[in-house]
Amino acid sequence: MSPLRVTRTLPEDATDAALRADVLGGLTVTPKWLPPKWFYDARGSELFERITELPEYYPTRAEREILTARSAEIAAASGARTLVELGSGSSEKTRYLIDALPLAAYVPVDVSESALTQAGEALIAERPALDVHALIADFTAPLALPDTPGPRLVAFLGGTVGNLLPAERAAFLASVRSLLSPGDGLLLGTDLVKDERVLVRAYDDASGVTAAFNKNVLSVVDRELGADFDPDAFDHVALWDAEREWIEMRLRSRTAQTVKVPALNLAVDFAAGEEMRTEVSAKFRREGVTAELAAAGLDLTHWWTDAEDRFALSLSVVR
Ligand SMILES: C[S@@+](CC[C@H](N)C(=O)[O-])C[C@H]1O[C@@H](n2cnc3c(N)ncnc32)[C@H](O)[C@@H]1O
Repeated sequence: MSPLRVTRTLPEDATDAALRADVLGGLTVTPKWLPPKWFYDARGSELFERITELPEYYPTRAEREILTARSAEIAAASGARTLVELGSGSSEKTRYLIDALPLAAYVPVDVSESALTQAGEALIAERPALDVHALIADFTAPLALPDTPGPRLVAFLGGTVGNLLPAERAAFLASVRSLLSPGDGLLLGTDLVKDERVLVRAYDDASGVTAAFNKNVLSVVDRELGADFDPDAFDHVALWDAEREWIEMRLRSRTAQTVKVPALNLAVDFAAGEEMRTEVSAKFRREGVTAELAAAGLDLTHWWTDAEDRFALSLSVVR
């Protein structure tokens, strides 16, 4: 059994500098916002895993249904020897692909070190012949992948691509394209446009796990930058933007309050009822996914959905 290899592609202070820049940039504009990658410290990653088990959160079950039914087809179409997974989290659903593909190496990439090491160690224990090379990295920055055998399949599951804004998605897909050679592929999970009530419930569950996940970003800023956000002074909000076809998660200030962020020498005023955006989760249609991939130089070759057409997995190749 080979040990888990973990590479941090960014120095630790780069994460600190990025958080400072995002908090300064996001809390000094109107409307205020924070990027969703800061949810995922160890507690945030655990809360996300609990979200995937909620009755309201259908995307994980729908994507698992597709992977269960289609992994053999995905393996036949890609023949990948290296599976690179962006935003891999627990790598739980990935096991269907790992078992179906003729893999030599699995390269999970995530900002959450705790999720990466937990998932990587479990995988190595279960599948001792697999070479697991974990990368602690931000997938929106240029990635240096380890030298492993091709063909390469880059998987981006869970609908996480929807957390990028349209311009960010275009840049991201172009950078994924630059990682691929002829014969490589991209397996992309996209949540689909559907009934607004189903969508909103998936981001505002009855047991409050998504609310705790949303507020966790405040605890991250408190811990890392010495801020004095009181998570109980904010309400969780999830709403559907029908024009842009995305869910927005926000935190609404319960009262007029001033939050101090000593590491940035910053005092941030919130009006009563003021909302700060913490995540968008875009929902897709087949035409839009095909067009966005094409704009990045990728041709969609396969489109698989679950029985209820809630979620899609697409396979695309370098044009
Ligand atoms: C919505 S979860 C999906 C997890 C898993 N792929 C799934 O399908 O259940 C998003 C994952 O991407 C990671 N992540 C978010 N933003 C990231 C970024 N900019 N770079 C690398 N990983 C990121 C998070 O830590 C988390 O594990």
